[in-house]
Amino acid sequence: MITTTLSKQDFLIVRDQDVIPFRNQVKEAAVKVGMGILNQTKLITAASELVRNLLKYGGGGTAEIEVVNNGRENGIRLVFKDNGPGIQDIDLAMKDGFSTGKSLGLGLPGTKRLVNEFNIQSAVGEGTIVTIIKWKNG
Ligand SMILES: Nc1ncnc2c1ncn2[C@@H]1O[C@H](COP(=O)(O)OP(=O)(O)O)[C@@H](O)[C@H]1O
Ligand SMILES: [Mg+2]
Repeated sequence: MITTTLSKQDFLIVRDQDVIPFRNQVKEAAVKVGMGILNQTKLITAASELVRNLLKYGGGGTAEIEVVNNGRENGIRLVFKDNGPGIQDIDLAMKDGFSTGKSLGLGLPGTKRLVNEFNIQSAVGEGTIVTIIKWKNG
C-alpha cells in the first residue's frame, strides 16, 4: 500500500530542552488524527526513546513529524536523523538488554514492539536514521 504524506513538521534536537516541545507536538499530531489514548501513549513512549538515543548516541540531529495516510487510515510517521557515529551491529543493537551506554537496552527493541512500522538505517561514521509509523487504529 502507498503511504502519502499529508503534513510535515521538522525539529532540530540538540539539547535536553528540545525534547519536551517535540514530544508535545507528537501528542498534538496524534490527537489531530484521532488516535486513541492507548496508541498515543505507545507512540509517545517510542518517540521519547528515539529522541533520547538521538541526543545521547547521535549527538543530536533532526526529528520529523508527518501525518500520513495509507489509503485506509491516517497515522503518524516519525523520522529521526543524526550524523553521529552510527551503529556497528544493528542486529545486536535491536536485542533486548544490549546497551553501550550502561542503560537498559530496551529503547530500540521496545520501540519496535510499540509501533506498526519500524526501520533503522545506520552507517558507521555517517549516522543513523530511524523511521517509525503508528497507524491510528494500529
Ligand atoms: N542514534 C544512535 N546512534 C548511534 N548508536 C545508537 C543510536 N541509537 C542507539 N544506538 C546504539 O544502540 C544501543 C541500544 O539502544 P537502546 O535499545 O535504545 O538502548 P540504550 O539506550 O539503553 O542503550 C545503544 O546502546 C547504542 O549503542
Ligand atoms: Mg535508548
